[in-house]
Amino acid sequence: MSNKLLEINNLQVQAEDKIILNNLNLTVNQGEVHVIMGPNGAGKSTLGYTIMGHPGFKVNHGNIYFEGEDITEEKADVRAKKGIFLSFQNPQELPGVTLENFLRTAQTSVTGKPIRVMAFKKDLSKTMETLNMDKDYSTRYLNVGFSGGEKKKSEILQMLLLNPKLAILDETDSGLDVDAVKIVSKGVETFKKKIPSL
Ligand SMILES: Nc1ncnc2c1ncn2[C@@H]1O[C@H](COP(=O)(O)OP(=O)(O)OP(=O)(O)O)[C@@H](O)[C@H]1O
Ligand SMILES: [Mg+2]
Repeated sequence: MSNKLLEINNLQVQAEDKIILNNLNLTVNQGEVHVIMGPNGAGKSTLGYTIMGHPGFKVNHGNIYFEGEDITEEKADVRAKKGIFLSFQNPQELPGVTLENFLRTAQTSVTGKPIRVMAFKKDLSKTMETLNMDKDYSTRYLNVGFSGGEKKKSEILQMLLLNPKLAILDETDSGLDVDAVKIVSKGVETFKKKIPSL
């Protein structure tokens, strides 16, 4: 069996009337970590959004395969259910929805299984502790008034609770102080250890 997790062939992506990515090829095998580098405006975030299925980016040609299945035309929620996760470069604020409710809803939607509330709460508080996040944050509205670094931590918290097959982290280290980089790196390391490498 192939251990290809993600395969991108000859991808051309456009936003508005601008072609941003052209003839891009990328293969990510299971258990691999890839670092994508490039100057500002090179198209790194665009690639992340396109893999996740952001409707603002149009694929003109080329294909995206996830676990051998063509997902080029799939909606973002379908991709999330298949196990793809994107941590945003600029996480959005969601007034009216608490961090805990958001995470619970996300986990229920992605797994398709009803959540066991007590187990979820325990998992949440344990994971927040490893990220050095105060428990009070779970009752605050998602990212509203969070500092730049706190928003990044809330993305990593989400990743750890959703346990995706493919995690795309867009500049997760930007805006973090030295201690927070260490904590978030530990979170990423924890996640990586859970992935079986072939
Ligand atoms: N909706 C859009 N309409 C027009 N141009 C866009 C749109 N979205 C992105 N772009 C352009 O596409 C290019 C790539 O943007 P992108 O955000 O992917 O770059 P990046 O490599 O992530 O940069 P950075 O290092 O600054 O995060 C930029 O020139 C940007 O202005
Ligand atoms: Mg970017």
